[in-house]
This record gives sequence, structure tokens and C-alpha cells, in this order.
Amino acid sequence: MPLLEAQHIVKVYPNGVVANNGVSLSVEQGEIHAIVGENGAGKSTLMKMLYGLEIPTSGQIHLRGQPVHIDNPHKAIALGVGMVHQNFMLVDSFSIAENIALGMEPGGGITVDRAKAIQDVEKLSITYGLQVDPRARVDRVPVGMRQRVEILKALYRGAEILILDEPTAVLTPRETNDLFAAIRNLIHEGKTVIFITHKLREVMEISDRVTVMRDARTVGTVQTKETSIPALARMMVGREVFMVVDKPPVKRGQPVLQVHNLTYANEAGRALVNRVSFNVCQYEILGIAGVEGNGQTELVEVLTGLRSPTAGDAMVDGKSVLGQGPRRVREARVTHIPEDRLTNGVARDASISDNLIIDRYYRDPFAARGLLSLNSIRKNGVALIKQFSILAQSSEVPVGSLSGGNMQKVIVAREFSSSPRLLIAAQPTRGVDIGAIEFIHQQLVDKRTEGLAILLVSADLQEVMKLADRIMVMYNGEIVAMLPNSADLTEEKLGLYMLGAARQTPAELEAAL
Ligand SMILES: Nc1ncnc2c1ncn2[C@@H]1O[C@H](COP(=O)(O)OP(=O)(O)OP(=O)(O)O)[C@@H](O)[C@H]1O
Ligand SMILES: [Mg+2]
Repeated sequence: MPLLEAQHIVKVYPNGVVANNGVSLSVEQGEIHAIVGENGAGKSTLMKMLYGLEIPTSGQIHLRGQPVHIDNPHKAIALGVGMVHQNFMLVDSFSIAENIALGMEPGGGITVDRAKAIQDVEKLSITYGLQVDPRARVDRVPVGMRQRVEILKALYRGAEILILDEPTAVLTPRETNDLFAAIRNLIHEGKTVIFITHKLREVMEISDRVTVMRDARTVGTVQTKETSIPALARMMVGREVFMVVDKPPVKRGQPVLQVHNLTYANEAGRALVNRVSFNVCQYEILGIAGVEGNGQTELVEVLTGLRSPTAGDAMVDGKSVLGQGPRRVREARVTHIPEDRLTNGVARDASISDNLIIDRYYRDPFAARGLLSLNSIRKNGVALIKQFSILAQSSEVPVGSLSGGNMQKVIVAREFSSSPRLLIAAQPTRGVDIGAIEFIHQQLVDKRTEGLAILLVSADLQEVMKLADRIMVMYNGEIVAMLPNSADLTEEKLGLYMLGAARQTPAELEAAL
């Protein structure tokens, strides 16, 4: 008898979207069950129903053979179902121990017995190998630790089945390894894990079985050891996915972005970006490789005007643009696909059409004599939705009602369509499905072949190696290598620079500029 079984689940959202259309899922006790499928296929919706955040329009859920009606998360928790969301839900100003123990003390008050909470959390943390600092404030710790907090919170509440919705999308490769080790511990302790991801390599590495969803239905469930990445991709997309980009050689053009001795120090005076100099030229993709946390994020934030540099300068087409806010940078025709789409990327309550012009509403053809031209805004929305295969009921629905990956596509569509001189793309394919990755990769390369200058930052080394013309490695805030992306460049070689085990001489760096 399966531990959890969902049969013929239908979910129609109030706006008429059929997000699940006869979905069935069967999960065995003690397994790691992966769920894959394109953006908008209905994965998160199905999970939300198992956790009581959404109620099925029709269909049955059985737990341990018994029919259950999970109509709110309290009920799910009482039944031993826990969930960690695509977007975290913690109370920022509270400590980790408080967040985990919050709402769990006898009487249900807000006051928490701190000493006991800290002790409990430490114990739990050791049992499952999920390392956290119980005394630290949640908003001061890295994203990987926040996620461990969410997992511990579910375990603290007695979760037997743990649902993880795209847990690795926000993690560095190393954090992903740690998470996988923790998941294996959970299984060892008798738990069951349901795990959503777009990364098929992860599915192959960690799962026992995989269920594939497509167009609001389940296509099937297979044993991981009896399938392969191409086979899964075919099941997901319904066609062959090659994941190769067509990248004709082009000659590098004139520099568009010139960065000179740029430094950014935090309040404590530590240089997170330390005297970096480089150019990004027309007809090239310059990729930044580096272990996350080595200054890449801060460098991008300075270059896009979100932070002011401590020293040094950057020029776009010969003009200095820094320290004057993001709009000044945009006006120099620099566009930016931000790393964190929810804080910097979209206005959730605004429509897709409005989000697509949010950076240029004051320009033609959208603003005529001070009035916004609703017609052009809508037309632009409809056209981009089609071009970027954004799954939405219409161009006028709020972006907040889209699936995670489709939100990301809205941002990518907006930034690609603004006829930029320089595109700064930070983690451009985070959270998007393989078909969309293929599309975004080809778009990036095509734009570069047409002459756009692109600065690409990605935690995915394979992505950088596939797309970049030159690769710059950052370590500890500094540029330690600048390498042409030739056939003899290997992950191992890059790895030495990324870990600080090797660095180029100033003369070598100079030569590659
Ligand atoms: N609250 C909501 N109201 C209306 N429609 C919604 C809501 N949440 C999701 N949808 C729609 O339901 C469909 C399925 O969305 P869901 O979030 O389940 O997809 P997903 O498979 O998790 O996609 P992704 O990989 O992009 O996260 C999408 O068309 C989405 O726009
Ligand atoms: Mg989702």
C-alpha cells in the first residue's frame, strides 16, 4: 500500500485556470520521489493541495490507505505532511530557534522558551545533519541556511512526508550537495521525500522514482534507474530536447563596458569587490565563474546602480554611469536580469503587460504626450508572451498568479526586448524548465552574434562554459583569471582558480583584457 496516493485530482483556480486536470500520484514509504515538468505544468499546485494550501476541485487523497481531506496546513502537519516552499516563509527579525519553535509551544502563545527552543533545535540539527546556528537572526544568514531552517521547522512539527518545492534553485552546487546528504539522512531516519526540480541531473542523482507532469496531467512515473536525462526530457516536453546551442564564431568588437579598479567595501570596510578591471565588448559574452559569495553579486549590484562603488569607475560607451542610481544605468541602455526575481524583478500585483514595460513606460511608443498608451502596452504584452512562450491566461493577469518559471520568463522577455547595448544576466535560467533554458541560451548567443555585449553571471559552471566567449574567475572579490573559452579549458582547470588554488600573474591578466 502506498504511503500517499492522489487520484484523479482536478484543480480549477477561481480565474478559470485548470492547473491540475486528472492528476494521479503514488508515493511509497521511505522513497525520494522527484516531480518534474515544464513551467506551469501544475507541480506546485499539486503540492499545495497535499499541504492544504489549496483545495482540490475534485479527486481524492489517501494517506496510509485512509481517505483524507487536507483543507489547511494545520491539518497537513497533524497528518505528518510538511512542505518547504519555492519562496521561503520565515519571520525575518526572529532568531532561527524562534522561527522553528514559533507557534509550537503549549498554549500556542507567541512567547517561546528560548533556552529550550535552542536545545531542541540543536538536537534536531545533529540528528539530521542540517547545520544551523539557532541563535542567529534569520535575515542575517545565507539562503542555504534559511532553507535548512524551513526543513527543520517541518521536522520539528513531526513531518513524516517532506515536500520540497525546487529546493536547489537557490543553492550553490556545494549547498546542493549538503542538502542531498541531509535528504539521505532523512530517508535513513524513516522519512519520505517529495522533491521538485528542473535539474534532471539532480533527479538522476538523488531520486528513487520520478513522476513527470505535462499540461496539468501526469504523464507517468518511472524508476530512476530505468530512465535517462534525454528520456525524461522527452516525457516532459513531448519532443526531443537537444540542449545544444548554435554558436558561430565572431570577432570581439569595441568595449561597451569598461571597468577600472572598481572596489566595493561593506560597512565593516571589507572589500567584497577588490580593484577589478575588465571590459565587456560588442559581439561577446563574458562569463563570470566563481563559487557564490566571492563578490559576483556585489559586482553586479554596483554595475546596475543598486550600490555605489567605494572606489574606481565603470563606463558604458565611454560615459561614467555609477553611483547615480539604477535609472541612470538603464538610460545608458544597460539591462539587467536580476538574480532575485521576487525582490528586484517583478511587481507581483501588476499585469504581465505592465511588468513588460515597467522600465520604459515613459518612452515611446508607450507614452504619448504624457499619457500611457494602453493599446501599445497590451500589444507589446501579447507579442512577448507569444515569443517567449509565457504560460498565462492573458496579458492582463497579475504576474503573481504565474508559476515561478513563467515569472522568470517575463523578466527575461522584458530585458531582451529593450534594445540594450549591454545585458547583465545574473542566473538567467534559474527556475526555468529545460525547453526554456534551451530558448534563453540560444537568445543570449544570437544577441551576442548580432553585436550585443553580455555579462553573464551563473552558479552553473556548465552554463558559463557553454555560452561564454571569455571567462573571468572571481575569488575573494578579485579577478584571479581571465581566460578565452577554448576547447582545452576544463572544469578542473577553472576549479583551481575558483577555489583560490591558482591565479594568473598580472601580466597574464593584462594580456587577456
Ligand atoms: N493562485 C493562482 N491563481 C491562478 N492561477 C494560478 C495560481 N497559481 C498558479 N496558477 C496557474 O496554474 C498553473 C500551474 O502553476 P504551478 O505553479 O502549479 O506550476 P509549476 O509546475 O509549479 O511551474 P514552475 O515550474 O514554473 O514553478 C499555471 O498556469 C499558473 O499560472
Ligand atoms: Mg512551481
